[in-house]
Amino acid sequence: MTPPATLLNVDRVGKSFTMHLQGGALLPVVQDVSFDVAAGECVVLGGPSGAGKSSLLKIVYGNYRCDSGSVMVRDGEDTIDVAAASPRRMIRLRRTRLAYVSQFLRVIPRVSAIDIVVQAAVEFGLPEDEGRRRARDLLTRLNVPEQLWSLAPATFSGGEQQRINIARGFVADHDVLLLDEPTASLDAVNRAAVVDLILTKKRRGTALLGIFHDEDVRDRVADRVVDVTRFSAAA
Ligand SMILES: Nc1ncnc2c1ncn2[C@@H]1O[C@H](COP(=O)(O)OP(=O)(O)O)[C@@H](O)[C@H]1O
Ligand SMILES: [Mg+2]
Repeated sequence: MTPPATLLNVDRVGKSFTMHLQGGALLPVVQDVSFDVAAGECVVLGGPSGAGKSSLLKIVYGNYRCDSGSVMVRDGEDTIDVAAASPRRMIRLRRTRLAYVSQFLRVIPRVSAIDIVVQAAVEFGLPEDEGRRRARDLLTRLNVPEQLWSLAPATFSGGEQQRINIARGFVADHDVLLLDEPTASLDAVNRAAVVDLILTKKRRGTALLGIFHDEDVRDRVADRVVDVTRFSAAA
């Protein structure tokens, strides 16, 4: 059997923040971060608060520029370096290959919860009816009450918003899925639902890179933990 394909390769990534309000002082976060994530694998970023875990996810998603290194994402026959890709190329990569569940839902005014999820499916390229079918299934599995589906999530609780966010990230078939503490504001029943969704993605061959503080969740989904403190750039 051939080994599963590497879908994400992070190679010698370094990042410092420039503190413009403090005379341009440099705040080093990580240096020489290297790891791979293969199809069907869930790699967890570990380390204490402030270690640079969320920053690394944002670098992989292209929200933060890194100062050095490369972030290679498989795109069919091609491989794209997120650290060097044009904005237009990044938009395409995010639509079809690379999804990110942030810690908090960025609420879009007036768009209903279900349409937020359907939109993500349609942007990926699924037909609208298939997107709607998947959205209903996910919102049901995540125990979002049906009377909320047609409402805009601005007034939802933190946990409800987070479940809309998770449904949006999981609705399509992106090959690489980034998760920043998706279960942080959820109760045990919904944490278990998210674990099931993650295990389903692994079985279809998705490469997952996530941050999970809940040890129970981590133990159930992680194939490997990459300890970010190993790459600490603090002097
Ligand atoms: N946009 C930013 N500007 C300046 N400093 C930042 C920014 N984002 C994160 N940091 C700093 O980088 C360090 C790592 O943060 P973060 O990646 O959020 O850590 P973690 O997710 O491991 O808790 C922290 O010291 C944080 O204050
Ligand atoms: Mg974080």
